[in-house]
Amino acid sequence: MGSGKSTLGAMVAARLGLPFVDTDRELEREAGRTVAELFSSEGEPAFRARERALALRLMRDGVVRVVAFGGGTVTNDEVRHAALDAGTLVTLRAPTETLVARTAAAGSVRPLLGGSPEAMVQRLRELSLARAAAYAECHGTVGTDRPLENALEDVLRIVARRPVAMPLGERSYVVDVIDGDPSRSTDAIAALRPSSLIVVTDANVAEARKDDLASLLRAGLAPSRVVTLPPGEVHKTLPQVAAIWDAALGQGIDRNAVVITLGGGVVGDMGGFAASTLLRGIRFVQLPTTLLSMVDASVGGKTGFDHPTGKNLVGTFHQPSHVVADLAHLSTLPDREVRAGLAEVVKIALTCDAALFEDLERAGRAVLEDRTHLQAVVRRAIELKAWVVRQDEREAGLREVLNFGHTIGHAVESGAEYTQLLHGEAIAMGMVAELALGERLGLSPSGLRGRTARLLEALGLRAEPSNAEMVAARPFLGADKKRRGSHVRVPLPSAVGACTVHPLELALLEDGPNFGSLPSAPVP
Ligand code: GLY
Repeated sequence: MGSGKSTLGAMVAARLGLPFVDTDRELEREAGRTVAELFSSEGEPAFRARERALALRLMRDGVVRVVAFGGGTVTNDEVRHAALDAGTLVTLRAPTETLVARTAAAGSVRPLLGGSPEAMVQRLRELSLARAAAYAECHGTVGTDRPLENALEDVLRIVARRPVAMPLGERSYVVDVIDGDPSRSTDAIAALRPSSLIVVTDANVAEARKDDLASLLRAGLAPSRVVTLPPGEVHKTLPQVAAIWDAALGQGIDRNAVVITLGGGVVGDMGGFAASTLLRGIRFVQLPTTLLSMVDASVGGKTGFDHPTGKNLVGTFHQPSHVVADLAHLSTLPDREVRAGLAEVVKIALTCDAALFEDLERAGRAVLEDRTHLQAVVRRAIELKAWVVRQDEREAGLREVLNFGHTIGHAVESGAEYTQLLHGEAIAMGMVAELALGERLGLSPSGLRGRTARLLEALGLRAEPSNAEMVAARPFLGADKKRRGSHVRVPLPSAVGACTVHPLELALLEDGPNFGSLPSAPVP
């Protein structure tokens, strides 16, 4: 109310050459009564039902347009999520006094306000608090307490960027998927107004992406300290986390400090974990530099490090404040690492999106040579991950499907002592081995294992572990976060693009077709 949405919405529509609909006006036109009359004659629930039906219709009729939603419209989860999926959702903000002044000047009757200016301020503050979590779930927020021409430019910039939204209430953030724009990262960090920055990277990335690192530091956003970790999964350990803690605390950080992770999944997981524990939790921004961390590790807030008994066994859920996936980083990434990243794309496609799986089957390795196609694939993988995480942030159900291939994959990776295989390479083999089990148990359709193996091989990934790799992996099968007593919760695709989680006897995995014929290895 008074945010300027009707005026600004019309301005956006004019600039983009699109039709404009203001849902309040459209409801009044359809009903032949004002919003205030509808409220008093039908009551708020009936009004909200009309509003919801109209909003969903506007988003599903295939017409590209600009819509100004009433302030309560996006408090409906279904409407808000549909808007996030169908288009670009921008929240407008202005101080309460400005809202009241504008509302009073317009002389319009606002059913949820009414009363004296003081009562209106009070009521608006209450509404704003009650709606804060819903309003935070958007692609961008624009202040309108200034000339609307300036706000217009900000809205248009958000529309042009089209980031992927991760709607998690007041912990919401966006993921920018771009190709070669270092200023996006500095703008995103600057918007957080950090008091200081702890930039976590590794020695390989610091060398390969030195220009990006230098431009980040040159931007002078805040006093900064760079922590350069030794590279590789073998160093994803508590001493490296402690090195980040020491650097941050030695710098005298306060709670407005921000950790920046510039690197792959190892850097992101450890930097995120350090951020989640420093001063009981400070903000962090993920700048993933590997394909694998762009499509999986940097999004969704899983942080942690490895323990000698298994991978990622100590960690937290701590969401980043922003993620910038810049494909330009891939130009200095070894080919082998890029291919390994495709394993996580295959995983999300196979478990959630048949169209993406088929797209990869058609393209094969050519997807890596066509940057526009690759950007679309990365974006789609991130959208799917965000769709899963928004429904199950803490992995109480749906998010478990993202562990497909990881029960056997983690064991293969651990068995190879984190030095012989990249994470994605182990996951590729884990997916094929788990599909073999799924087919044997009649939980996955026959032929899916072969089809997946063919795709992985077409993408340049090995689908079958060697006997030696399997022997080494076996003792690690039980050291899995997904284990519950003698059972492990194993996600198995029931079709391309669909997946169900099954509690399976650990013994079934250990003695199944993958491991059953192998001599047992000594427990390390
Ligand atoms: N990497 C799996 C997840 O984020 O849940």
